Order: sequence, then C-alpha cells, then structure tokens
Amino acid sequence: MTTEHFVGAIDQGTTGTRFMMFDHGGQVIANAYETHEQIYPEPGWVEHDPNEIWRNTQSVMTDALSNAGLEAEQLAAIGVTNQRETTLLWDADTGQPIHNALVWQDRRTTDRVEELQEAGMAETIREKTGLEVDAYFSATKAEWILDNADPIKTQRARPADLRERAADGEIKFGTIDTWLIEKLTGNHITDVTNASRTMLYDIHEGDWDEELLDEFGIAREMLPEVRPSSDENHYGTTDPDDFLGAEVPVAGALGDQQAALFGQTCFDPGDAKNTYGTGSFFLMNTGEEAVESEHGLLTTVGFQRSGEPIQYALEGSIFITGAAIEWLVDVELIEDPAETESLARSVDSTDGVYLVPAFTGLGAPHWDGRARGTIVGMTRGTTKEHIVRATLESIAYQTRDVAEAMEADSGIEMSSLRVDGGAVKNNFLCQLQADSIGSEIVRPVVDETTALGSAYAAGLAVGYWETADELRDNWQVDREFAPEMASTEADRKYGRWQEAVERSLNWAQE
Ligand code: G3P
Repeated sequence: MTTEHFVGAIDQGTTGTRFMMFDHGGQVIANAYETHEQIYPEPGWVEHDPNEIWRNTQSVMTDALSNAGLEAEQLAAIGVTNQRETTLLWDADTGQPIHNALVWQDRRTTDRVEELQEAGMAETIREKTGLEVDAYFSATKAEWILDNADPIKTQRARPADLRERAADGEIKFGTIDTWLIEKLTGNHITDVTNASRTMLYDIHEGDWDEELLDEFGIAREMLPEVRPSSDENHYGTTDPDDFLGAEVPVAGALGDQQAALFGQTCFDPGDAKNTYGTGSFFLMNTGEEAVESEHGLLTTVGFQRSGEPIQYALEGSIFITGAAIEWLVDVELIEDPAETESLARSVDSTDGVYLVPAFTGLGAPHWDGRARGTIVGMTRGTTKEHIVRATLESIAYQTRDVAEAMEADSGIEMSSLRVDGGAVKNNFLCQLQADSIGSEIVRPVVDETTALGSAYAAGLAVGYWETADELRDNWQVDREFAPEMASTEADRKYGRWQEAVERSLNWAQE
C-alpha cells in the first residue's frame, strides 16, 4: 500500500500559531493551535517573543501529526503563512533575536511617520511601495530596533554598533515568515507578498529600494532573498535530524491576507475576499496591473507563482475587528466571543449607540495613527446588549468603508463577497455585513482559507496539485447571505457611523 501524502501549512497569526494538513480535496486532515503572549510594554506598544513563536510552531506541528496519527514523511510539502509586517532582527551567529518582535499593531514609531510625512516622503513611498506611510509597516519598526535594542540583551553590541554589524551581515532582518523559514530550512528567505509589506520594497521593480534602505538606515546585507510565493525551487527542506525527523520541502509562503486570497481561489482580476481575524483585510485581485488607489487603499502584491509575473491586489486594511470582540471579553462584558450572536440578536438595534474600535489608530481608508476608540450615543438605558451589537456593527461598517473605496478605485461593482476567518461562524455578523454593503456574502465550507492558501501555494510548487483549476474545483459554498435591509435604512445607519468615526479621529496626544 502506498503511503498517503498531505500538504502542511503553518499559520502564524497575531494571537496564535496553527498547523493544518490538507488532502487533495482541500479538506482538513489535522489541526493544532496554540496562543502566545501579547506583550504591551507601554500604551500603544505590542511585542511578541520570537522564540516563543518558534517553540509553538514546533509543538503545533508535532501535536497535529500525532493527534491525527500521521508521520512527518506523509508531508509532501509545507507552506508558511503569517501575520504580516511584524518585524524582528536577529544575530546571524547565534540565531537569537536582538529584541522582541514589534507587532504590526505597534504604534511606537508614529512620531517618525509624521516626520516622514512632513519631509514630503509620503508620495515617494506610495509610488514605490504602494503603501501609505504608517507605523503599521516594517521599515520604521526595524529602524527603531536598530536605534533602541538593549545593549545588555544584545550582549556584545552598543546600539551604535548595531548598524555596523548589520552592514557586515551579522544582523538579519525578517518578518515572521522569514524567521520561520530560516528556522525550518536554515535559509534567509522571504516571499514577495511579505516583502511588499515592509515599506522597503519596490513592488514595480521587484527589488529592495536603495533610497528607502538609506532613509531607514537598513543595510541590504540584512535583508532576505525575495522569492515567489509558490516556488518550484523550494526555499529549502526541513532538517531530518531536527524536530520533524523528515526532509520536507518548504515551498510556499504568503502573508496571511494574501494566503486567504489564494485559499479563496481569487485567482482572477476582480475576485475579492474579506478575512475577519484580529483585524479585517479586504483584498481584490487586480491581475498584472498595480492599481493606484485614490481612496485610501493599499496597492500590494497578491501572489506570485514560479516563472509567472507578480499578481497585484488592492487592499483595505482594517486594524481592529475580531480584536474588538476580544476587548469585550477583556472588559468582562462577555465571557466568550460566541455569546455575541445571541446577545446582539436579543435587541432590535443598538438604540443609537455607535462604537468605533480605533484602539490602534485607524487604517484604511482613514490612515490616522492618532485615532482612538470611541463610543457615542449612550443613554441611561444603554445595556450590555447594545454595546455588543454596536461592536458587531462596527465590523460591518468598517468593511463598508473599504468596500466603497474598493468599488471607487477598481470601477467594479461587487455583487458578492467571499468571507472567511474566525468571526464568520457568526451568522448574525454575516447577515449584518450583507445588509450593510448591500451585496451577497458567501461563506465557504473551509473557513481556514489562510492556512489552505499557503498549503495550495506549497502544493502547487511540488506538483501535489497540478493546476489552479483543481483548486477552484475544491472551493465549496457553505452558506450565502443576501441583503435583507432596505438600502435607505442601511445608508442612514452608515451615515451615523461616519459621524462617529469623525469623533474618533486625531485623539491621541502622544
Ligand atoms: O497585516 C496584519 C495581518 O496580517 C494580521 O492578520 O490574522 O494575524 O490578525 P491576523
């Protein structure tokens, strides 16, 4: 009997790390998940311990295999997908991080961003990288670590020496994909989608940009090699003497939102998806054309397959959606996110309450690093149920903000939107979303499309799947939600939402 093979996906997200294995039909065969610590050293700062992330990656891989009674030899390939922009630097000799990773949500470099805006760099950065100048991206985070890494922790370098050591190739830069690929294969590599989120990469030229490297004091020697998201040449193989005991090709990597685009088989221009995780990220494939946004969206790399041109995407990045539900848990309004559906249904409306979860500033389409969370419209009669409902509604309204920008930029009127991520299990939210944007919401059977997308990228690279059509055939609808609310009512509520957003803008002083 021949041994059956599967494709594995490491999905390293903001709150935790998952390992999944998929079969030819794109069905989940094995799954394990572990959370890691969120470190908040100061208000607005968010860090992760890269060593904890690597330990968790190893343990979820081992657990998923053993829970499903499978062997590592049964892995035809591994794909990696990751929280994007989160940045770390490590010592090339010891492999030890010189500082905790600065998470994409971290706002500590807002002053530096404002300095760049004042210096007129915004246009140059947008032209080259497709990005808004924002603390969200990696460049100012890497610069901050080079300026501030603790000399005691780095053991032998004063901060001033770090740049010299970096220029000598002794310090390596990476996003989380790079960190994990190096741990798995020993090679310093990133994929083109992750590179496109650093604010150091020219998405048109397909190369790191000298002017931006100079601006942020990043030596080219620190940077990983940029490879296609699905790479027939493989990034490397796992070391059989290491934890897996097998030599498995690591052959695909995509930032998690691009992986969801791929997993939703949005392979053609005009195909779009929205993923509801910590934040929500709405991406539309624009094919070989890098469409420039005039409405606050990002132009980014969608994916690239070996030997094929880069496929671009327009993106609306919403920083806080699922995290707003976690906040309801943190402040003890609810015990479990699953409660939100019944609590929200128990009232007819929010009774005029609007909650803007601008906890880490606002991303698309506002790009205001100083916006902060706001609740407006409360009365003595406001209840927990109203707040919970307003939180769910904020997810739908923020998505409408970017959906409108997307239609304006692309000229394509959306008739339906594919959704995925943890929060889409909530039927109430899906219906709310359909009502709010006035388009059909389509939820697929496999909602872990992020992991699936990176498995597809790796599996295509090693020939586990031969064509994109095979993947399209795997995609199946679980449920469709058609708009039910009159558009005049949806527009009225949305207008109030926009007024609430105005009140949250430019709040933080420092
Ligand atoms: O850009 C940030 C995004 O990649 C984070 O995704 O799913 O970890 O919240 P997630």
